[in-house]
Amino acid sequence: MARIQVAQISVPEGWIDLGVGQPHEDSLPLEQLAEAATHRFEQGDRSILQYGMQQGNANFRNALARFLSAQYEASVDPDHLFITAGISQVLDQICALHTRPGDTVIVEEPSYFLALRIFADHELNVISTPIDTDGLNIEALEEKLVKHNPVFIYTIPSFHNPAGVTLSANRRQKLVRLGEKHGFLIVADEVYQMLAYTATPPPPMTYFDTSARVLSLGSFSKILAPGLRLGWMQAKPSLLEPFIVCGYLDSGGGLNPFVSSIVNSMIELGLQKDYLDFLKKTYRNRKAVLSKALREHIPLLTYTDPDGGYFIWSHLPEGMDAETLLEAAKKYQVGFQPGVKFSSVKGLGNYLRFCFAFYGEADLLEGVERLSRIIR
Ligand SMILES: Cc1ncc(COP(=O)(O)O)c(C=O)c1O
Repeated sequence: MARIQVAQISVPEGWIDLGVGQPHEDSLPLEQLAEAATHRFEQGDRSILQYGMQQGNANFRNALARFLSAQYEASVDPDHLFITAGISQVLDQICALHTRPGDTVIVEEPSYFLALRIFADHELNVISTPIDTDGLNIEALEEKLVKHNPVFIYTIPSFHNPAGVTLSANRRQKLVRLGEKHGFLIVADEVYQMLAYTATPPPPMTYFDTSARVLSLGSFSKILAPGLRLGWMQAKPSLLEPFIVCGYLDSGGGLNPFVSSIVNSMIELGLQKDYLDFLKKTYRNRKAVLSKALREHIPLLTYTDPDGGYFIWSHLPEGMDAETLLEAAKKYQVGFQPGVKFSSVKGLGNYLRFCFAFYGEADLLEGVERLSRIIR
């Protein structure tokens, strides 16, 4: 049977899996990247094929800083940027450089399930802390800090995966103050920061940093293409230092210099901004369609209405189980992500995550229609 098959997902033909949390191939910017690559190749600069500078190419960091400053509505210093091979790569590097097996880290409940796997690879002791409609609950976190002594807290401050919520500016300040008081790092995964559909969210966590404790992680995976494996970390230079001066980069040089040079052209030619605008418009419409369809056809569920990102997070009445529902949904060839996947304590059994980024509007409607047959 034909399937949509890429890393992390395998959807049989005819199925609509509203759990898939990545862009659809049909909307990936092949033509724009071809134009950007031609622009770069025509410059005849063979240095793009060399080992790269450890912090990332300076021209690229300058271009990226200009692009981010406009998007964040806050100035970005290119010397505060370290080029990465995406958030997953740098999360692994953060664990490698800052933790030892058995160390404690704090994650949100729910959290991005694949980050939990990275922490498991490093044999970290993971403690969860709750979030609410304003993001991380600071009082609850403070209580946890009395008992535990984490190396870092991993948070998704803007348009959370899966919960869709955004940490308020006030709480961002409080979180940094707690970091200072208790001596932990704040690892902020800001992969959805620029996918804002109503208003610009508070700037990345690093803007609230007063004492060099915040690592703000960005990525081209959701604003351009995940296959590029390109991202950045924004932080005070003293925090970037151990990443720039390490054995990994000493041997292999800076990360993805060749891809960076093409993305540099995407930015210089204005193609990145145009593509991001296109994505925001597309996802805004898809979110409205999915949100309306869910409310109208499956009123039994309670929903978030996110202002950005990829996901609608919803829950069944207490006592009902999303995994049982998922099993029943197979009959109608429809899927979603059960909440338990996003829990580090095997909780959230009655939660479901829907993604509105992967499918077009017709498939979203069809998916909800199929699901409504079993939930009705
Ligand atoms: C919260 C979150 N962080 C990180 C990633 C992966 O980022 P990258 O492709 O840059 O490794 C994803 C992708 O789904 C995500 O949702």
